[in-house]
Amino acid sequence: MSLEPGLVLVTGANGAGKTNLLESLHVGTQGFSPRSRSDTQLIRQGTQAARIELTGSRGPTPVVVGVNLSASAPRRATLAGATLRSAEQLRSELATLVFTPDRLVIVKGGPAARRAYIDRSLARLYPARAHIAIDYATAVGQRNAALRRVALGLSDRDVLAPWTAQVADLGATLTASRRDVIELLQPGFAERAAELGVERASLGYDAELLTIATLEARVDRDIERGTTGAGPHLDEIAVSSGDRDLRTFGSQGEQRLAVLALLLSEAELITARRRVPPLLLLDDALSELDERRRRILSERIGAVGQTIVTATGAESLPLAPAQLLRVTPGRVETD
Ligand SMILES: Nc1ncnc2c1ncn2[C@@H]1O[C@H](COP(=O)(O)OP(=O)(O)OP(=O)(O)O)[C@@H](O)[C@H]1O
Ligand SMILES: [Mg+2]
Repeated sequence: MSLEPGLVLVTGANGAGKTNLLESLHVGTQGFSPRSRSDTQLIRQGTQAARIELTGSRGPTPVVVGVNLSASAPRRATLAGATLRSAEQLRSELATLVFTPDRLVIVKGGPAARRAYIDRSLARLYPARAHIAIDYATAVGQRNAALRRVALGLSDRDVLAPWTAQVADLGATLTASRRDVIELLQPGFAERAAELGVERASLGYDAELLTIATLEARVDRDIERGTTGAGPHLDEIAVSSGDRDLRTFGSQGEQRLAVLALLLSEAELITARRRVPPLLLLDDALSELDERRRRILSERIGAVGQTIVTATGAESLPLAPAQLLRVTPGRVETD
């Protein structure tokens, strides 16, 4: 099946398979599912294996990807016929941004969801810094284990020093990197959000850089609790409209628009940096939005590159898509 560039609308009844189609495009371009499901859930029930094959282009360069899923073997991906080290390596080759209704947690969920989102944006916008958040989490885990050994009298306090130094170093780097990403995302976020009727939108992040002194000042409490009680694993990132925190004071529609404005801001940055727009996969993005906002959003997403958007009916999209796909169980048809 061939998908047109521009805006592709996927319609179908509830349960027809629209999300499955988007999920397969995500697995095929990124090597993993945005729903973080196991391979067995991605393979049709009752069968043992599945394969996703995609051909397309990245700017002027043709791209051919294959992803093999199996109930009994690790995922395997090929790009232009060559096997990748891991399927997730596709992420550094191809850019795909996804919206699903689950992503509303970025605005309305707890701080961990926002930290995770900003750290994923960091990995996408600064691939060379993709490891920082992972390394920091590992260092905190190791320091916590050492704190518990000290509490149990199994180790001396001296053993903490190298972990404290590492946590402070990686923590300060992570905070500085998050500041960079937020600074990059902020102007586009505010602009897209304003266009969609969310005024003076902003991302607030006022964390201090973690230091050894900060960690040492609270080491007794940390030993007592067995966890590191300061650092970017506890930071909050506020998403606001003027002085209204959208987490608690945003309407459902405003929260959705804020998530979409963030995604559009990142799409613009990726386009500028990689010189190729990302593939946008928007599942159920249009529901809950009024007619005017649906129109503005549709115009925006239609101008990015290639965008696949799902809806139960064609009337959800206030403009004519480049292509209309109809999904029924097990089938995708085009006009
Ligand atoms: N591994 C699987 N094997 C077989 N069927 C599956 C598997 N995973 C999901 N399904 C089924 O696929 C069907 C289509 O699901 P999907 O989420 O894609 O529907 P949808 O068109 O997005 O519906 P909605 O409009 O409600 O979001 C569901 O009935 C689901 O139970
Ligand atoms: Mg769905």
